[in-house]
Amino acid sequence: MGIKEEQLAALAAELEKCSACPLRNDCRAPVGWYGCPNSPILFIGEGPGGVEDDYGCPLIGPSGQLLDKALWSVQMTRDRVLTTNIIKCRPKGNRTPDLAEADFCAKTWLERELAILQPKVIVALGSVAMHYLGEPDMRITRQRGKWFRSSQGFDCIATFHPSYILRQYGHAQVQAKWDVYHDLQLARAKAAEACPDYNLCSDDPVDLFSIFTKRSV
Ligand code: URA
Repeated sequence: MGIKEEQLAALAAELEKCSACPLRNDCRAPVGWYGCPNSPILFIGEGPGGVEDDYGCPLIGPSGQLLDKALWSVQMTRDRVLTTNIIKCRPKGNRTPDLAEADFCAKTWLERELAILQPKVIVALGSVAMHYLGEPDMRITRQRGKWFRSSQGFDCIATFHPSYILRQYGHAQVQAKWDVYHDLQLARAKAAEACPDYNLCSDDPVDLFSIFTKRSV
């Protein structure tokens, strides 16, 4: 195991026992991260939904499946990037976490992930991640596809959250998919520039359901 894997394994063991906020009472268990710790590129979503809570893997449900297709379209696979979330416990009824909940969880866990991972590029999937990394007054429709520097000093780009795309219809959905495609290309290019020898794409897309089984907790 490499040093980052070891540090992340220790962090995962701590995360499993987290009961630092009331969100823990309404979910099966916290959901951590998935992927390659040495990847130059980190994707940050909002928080686990029902399928993620069931399987203990971030972005494995409908949003994750759309993300996987988008990644494949720009030659990236889930095993070669790292995916995580701002909050680790599914809010009851899948509601959007409020700013204070997002802030508390991210300061407790995500900050420690970032300190270990030191990604070259962060892709914020949707407003919750963008607001945590950037400024609370940023608007995803205006900011997506533009580079900004997080307070921790990471190069970040925001794009639409896959669940937003799934809620769109007709032309708006097609347009949003193209926007994400272009944003991901920008992110890929910066990551490849920083780490030209790193392979961002395996031969086949990853089937997360063949890796994760339903949790019994
Ligand atoms: N949406 C997210 O932002 N993250 C997940 O893990 C699942 C859905």
